[in-house]
Amino acid sequence: MKGLILSGGKGTRLRPLTYTSSKQLIPIANKPILFYGIEQLVFCGIKDIGIVVGDSKDEIKRIVGDGQKWNINITYIHQKEPLGIAHAIKVSRDFLDDDDFLLYLGDNLLNDDLRSFIDDFNEKELDEKILLTEVKHPEMFGVVEFKDKKIVRLIEKPKNPPSNLALCGIYIFNKNIHPIIDELKPSHRGEYEITEAIQNLFDKGYKLGYSLVKGWWKDTGKLEDLLAANRIVLDRNLKLNIKLDLDDTVSIEGRVEIGEDCKIHNTVIRGPVIIGNSVEIDNAYIGPYSSIADNCVIIHSEIENSIILNNTTIGSIKKRIQNSLIGKNATIISHNEKPNAHSFMIGDNSIINLGE
Ligand code: DAU
Repeated sequence: MKGLILSGGKGTRLRPLTYTSSKQLIPIANKPILFYGIEQLVFCGIKDIGIVVGDSKDEIKRIVGDGQKWNINITYIHQKEPLGIAHAIKVSRDFLDDDDFLLYLGDNLLNDDLRSFIDDFNEKELDEKILLTEVKHPEMFGVVEFKDKKIVRLIEKPKNPPSNLALCGIYIFNKNIHPIIDELKPSHRGEYEITEAIQNLFDKGYKLGYSLVKGWWKDTGKLEDLLAANRIVLDRNLKLNIKLDLDDTVSIEGRVEIGEDCKIHNTVIRGPVIIGNSVEIDNAYIGPYSSIADNCVIIHSEIENSIILNNTTIGSIKKRIQNSLIGKNATIISHNEKPNAHSFMIGDNSIINLGE
């Protein structure tokens, strides 16, 4: 079985970060979201993975590489425009050949062992298999309608959802999906919809199976989802691991991971917290569920429940920074010089809450 991970798309809900980078590269607990998907597939024994990339293809290739670090083969497939998930499969036709494949949407995070999902597809000789989970806002997802415990219909982002069971972005298909995709027309939102392709395959009498998520699943398209995913991963995966000698001006509580070459003084760190390499922290409080990437500087400030990307400087901020996602190379500082005014250089679509 091959793997196909989608890492194209526009990521409009995460602007301005996605103007300069791909949403699948935003780190959760200091690791790009995309890596979690790759590692899931590797764990299931899939060694031949295609990654569909769009405009940010060069950055993704640079960060992910050719698969050597997981001992697998990665093939990049360029989708010139994000015309839909089914379209991404279409442009991957040569890579997929006639093999069965597991399709994984690159902005999804899942803490389930997918091996039984794959085994069920093979044992029942299914044509397509989907993973479902209960969601609070089914109108934002592909949704399944059931009758007598059997799927009767699949609808993409319905106004009046027939159930609260949504399609997670994880599917398995065999080669029968390809002619169905070839016949698809763009939907009202102009995309070639995978949900419609699944429905059409099902209508033709092909065998569709499903499983329910047992652990947790997150679609990381929005800020709150990213922060929630960060909390879950820090809660579950983090171990106490501190790669430097701390002096007695630093107080550590709970599970905290600190990378190499950091300088930390006069600070309280209350885990779960992950801090990358070469980070400088002085006179600060780093509270639970914070992920601070490499080369950041945090001085005279308090941070909690936030994701800070690399090379960012935060200095002398009076109020605690919380529930925040701060991009790469950002500077947030405050000084006492007159005139006493706010001064900004902020990218398009940024959100600033001064909390005053
Ligand atoms: O997250 C689960 C949902 O994912 C499902 O419930 C929906 O049925 C499914 O259509 C999909 O909906 P989204 O609106 O969340 O899809 P999104 O446009 O965010 O794209 C999902 C991933 O696929 C994302 O990593 C970007 C990538 N992608 C998307 C499109 C449209 C591509 O690589 N190429 C594309 O053309």
